[in-house]
Amino acid sequence: MTLDAPEKSGTTHAGLARWVAEVAALTTPDEVRWVTGSADEWTELTDKLVAAGTFTRLNEDIKPNSFHAASSPEDVARVEERTFICSREEKDAGPTNNWMDPEQMKDLMRGLYQGCMKGRTMYVIPFVMGHLEADSPMFGVEITDSEYVVVSMRVMARCGTKILDRIEELGDAAKYVPALHSLGAPLADGEQDVKWPCNEEKYIVQFPEERTIWSYGSGYGGNALLGKKCYSLRIASAMARDEGWLAEHMLILKLISPEQQVYYVAAAFPSACGKTNLAMLKPTIPGWTVETLGDDIAWMRFGKDGRLYAVNPEFGFFGVAPGTNEHTNPHAMTTINKGNSVFTNVALTDDGDVWWEGLENEPAHATSWKGEDWTPDSGELSSHPNSRYCTPIEQCDILADEYNDPQGVPISAILFGGRRKTTVPLVTESRDWLHGTFMGATLSSETTAAAKGEVGVVRRDPMAMLPFIGYNAGDYFQHWVNLGKDADATKLPKIFYVNWFRRDQDGGFLWPGFGENSRVLKWVIERMEGKAAAVETPIGHVPTPESLDVEGLDMTAAELEAALAVDPEEWKAEIPQIEEWFAKFGETLPTQLQIELDGLKARLGL
Ligand code: GDP
Ligand code: PGA
Ligand code: MN
Ligand code: MN
Repeated sequence: MTLDAPEKSGTTHAGLARWVAEVAALTTPDEVRWVTGSADEWTELTDKLVAAGTFTRLNEDIKPNSFHAASSPEDVARVEERTFICSREEKDAGPTNNWMDPEQMKDLMRGLYQGCMKGRTMYVIPFVMGHLEADSPMFGVEITDSEYVVVSMRVMARCGTKILDRIEELGDAAKYVPALHSLGAPLADGEQDVKWPCNEEKYIVQFPEERTIWSYGSGYGGNALLGKKCYSLRIASAMARDEGWLAEHMLILKLISPEQQVYYVAAAFPSACGKTNLAMLKPTIPGWTVETLGDDIAWMRFGKDGRLYAVNPEFGFFGVAPGTNEHTNPHAMTTINKGNSVFTNVALTDDGDVWWEGLENEPAHATSWKGEDWTPDSGELSSHPNSRYCTPIEQCDILADEYNDPQGVPISAILFGGRRKTTVPLVTESRDWLHGTFMGATLSSETTAAAKGEVGVVRRDPMAMLPFIGYNAGDYFQHWVNLGKDADATKLPKIFYVNWFRRDQDGGFLWPGFGENSRVLKWVIERMEGKAAAVETPIGHVPTPESLDVEGLDMTAAELEAALAVDPEEWKAEIPQIEEWFAKFGETLPTQLQIELDGLKARLGL
């Protein structure tokens, strides 16, 4: 075993060198490699993945430099029941997170990590979330024994020697999050590897006080690309609480009106509830344009002018494949068609392309994500519902120039939303920040395939952050309340609540969604400018049917009314669920949110 990599001999950063050596001694890989981010390295790693059978190279004429991967059927999504927030005290993890004492967890995991990289290469990936030019760059270093993870990290985060150089320049002043990942699949001498190594036993662990991540047993993106959910949401949310900012599960988009007015909007929807699609929306209403800045994570800090500025810390899109097509998300299609992408758990066509449910040009035959023959009549899905494309954000043809600005963009409106078949209208405007915080804190959505477990069950998912809050959710609500209290109310973003997923009696979507969501964005802007009408309801302000631009929309008046309806009986039925949810937080529930709930009950006549 050697600690020397051909490209760069370890690091001059003593602390980092020590940690890497410690991990290598514990996990005993055959070799240690420092990830450089070079083109040659990409070729070498993707070739290695092709040789191992993990990757299939796609047809160069269709999707250049792109690859198909199929995971083990057990390793297809985030594993919330195996995800832990190991704060020193249990109360600091709160009622919504799994918790274990940090020392106990480390003992347990050291046992798992012991010799776990035998027969494999250990890669050290220096990375930065957000801009290297930021005032204090948010560094991380991921150690992993998975080439799939290295390749995917290179797409999703700014990685490599350039980042390491900066860490070394800063020396002890460089703060970085050490993030350890292993597949938990050591190889005995001469043992043949499988296509998708992983371990049945999985742990996705955050130590928020130490700003450290330990992940074991899974190769799936959300569990293994540690810069994403683990760092940029769980660890960053704890940093944000301490430092007075917000790390949120939000897309960021730039909206340009026909008058060339520019607005920046952030939106939080739970996983697989429409962030990536809204981020790259192609408006159906004339004169309006959308550009994108981010599709999953927003870091928001107050600027000197008192406005809230958002930055996307990521470098790629990790999007849900099924349902993506030229109609629903044309910009995602042009992005992935440029190549340089990894497709996981979709179908492979006979001409070396990928396919999934909802994509145009259904093939007569393909190989399903399970590696089986698939035809349109097989009666099975060709692709896993949580299959994903992983593609560079810079390939997006509507990427806003401001994406490259480390200061970020000033947010005018925040949308919360989820998947609800009933009850929740198309769009509701909050009265103020506090009311908007209440909407976020009580956000509800039907579960999706993005996490392991039952699909379609309504659960509370506060600010779409349920699986990602790195501390006590009651304290997180208080943090939102406090930010509003300390800010200039006239400069705060206006908060709205949307639901694209309400159904009619036959189970069809009431609202056509996708590009038509631009109509809702227009109403949001017009509300902020005092131009659009609304009706006051117990839950907030909802559009009058006339105030929403429905020109050219194929929808009856009755359908529109149903999409916008606020049914007091449905909302009365919602109250006990909200009360049960709030009861979980005991003393940590901000009084202001209890007052909001009391107000809602009073308005419903309860
Ligand atoms: P994300 O995981 O939050 O980024 O969600 P995506 O944008 O990837 O969308 C997840 C799923 O919801 C995909 O299957 C989309 O086709 C579907 N979806 C997204 N936006 C809409 C919408 O406005 N209406 C409907 N009915 N489905 C949508
Ligand atoms: P999503 O991202 O929000 O686009 O689904 C992945 C996830 O949340 O697991
Ligand atoms: Mn997400
Ligand atoms: Mn997404």
